[in-house]
Amino acid sequence: MDESLRRRYLEAMGIQNWVERNGATPEPAIQQGPPEPIDPNPPDRAEPPPPVAESVPPWLQDVPPLTGEWGFSEPPEAAALEPVDPVYGLDWKGLEARVAACERCELCKTRTRTVFGVGDRSADLMVIGEAPGVDEDRQGEPFVGRAGQLLNAMLLAIGLERSQVFIANVLKCRPPGNRDPRPEEALQCEPYLRRQVALVKPKVIMAVGRVAAQNLLKSQEAVGRMRGRDYRFDDIPLVVTYHPAYLLRSPHHKSRAWQDLQRAVGMLQNRR
Ligand code: URA
Repeated sequence: MDESLRRRYLEAMGIQNWVERNGATPEPAIQQGPPEPIDPNPPDRAEPPPPVAESVPPWLQDVPPLTGEWGFSEPPEAAALEPVDPVYGLDWKGLEARVAACERCELCKTRTRTVFGVGDRSADLMVIGEAPGVDEDRQGEPFVGRAGQLLNAMLLAIGLERSQVFIANVLKCRPPGNRDPRPEEALQCEPYLRRQVALVKPKVIMAVGRVAAQNLLKSQEAVGRMRGRDYRFDDIPLVVTYHPAYLLRSPHHKSRAWQDLQRAVGMLQNRR
């Protein structure tokens, strides 16, 4: 409809649709008294009034109306979203207790003890392995067997005592027969590890071995291909290296692990 005709209809209905020069649109005013008759030949105005604004500007047309207690409408997919895992709100004490009592997967039936993690809870370097083995399951501490002794030596080689880093695993319980963690087990355990990372806030994470690297990075690649690349886990730089148990079987790859350790040291120095 022609704008000037529309405006005259509005005026005839007693409605003045004002538009301020700054763009704000006040409520339409109800005109007092009888409507003016429409002049079929209105005099030309020297300066035409600014156009009447559309009720909703085009860039706002898809925005849902404000509703609800806080004035926000729920996005349509909200009902489909998973509730946030309560683990993400726990402090160290709460997290430790939650892990110790965990029954999220079948591994709780076969474990001797949960293996929470050990070391400096404000460490710059966090080492993440696969899952407890037979020794760790007995003692409740990660990397205490032969692989653990080699890990300690690797850390010492870069000037760090075991107590100066935080060491944890993807799984907090031992898979029977030392089989690989199942995807659903890793998924159930993931909030515990993520919470540990969030609490430690390390400057660098070192993923040791295929299972740790693949689970943390949601990848299917071999460790040999992941080494030397830049990754991040929850926005923290992550270095991939061989598992010490693998290095015990393949000692000729220790030189590559040494390169990876040097890389981690370089990253730590960059983030000081
Ligand atoms: N291997 C791991 O990945 N973690 C341990 O705690 C022990 C052996």
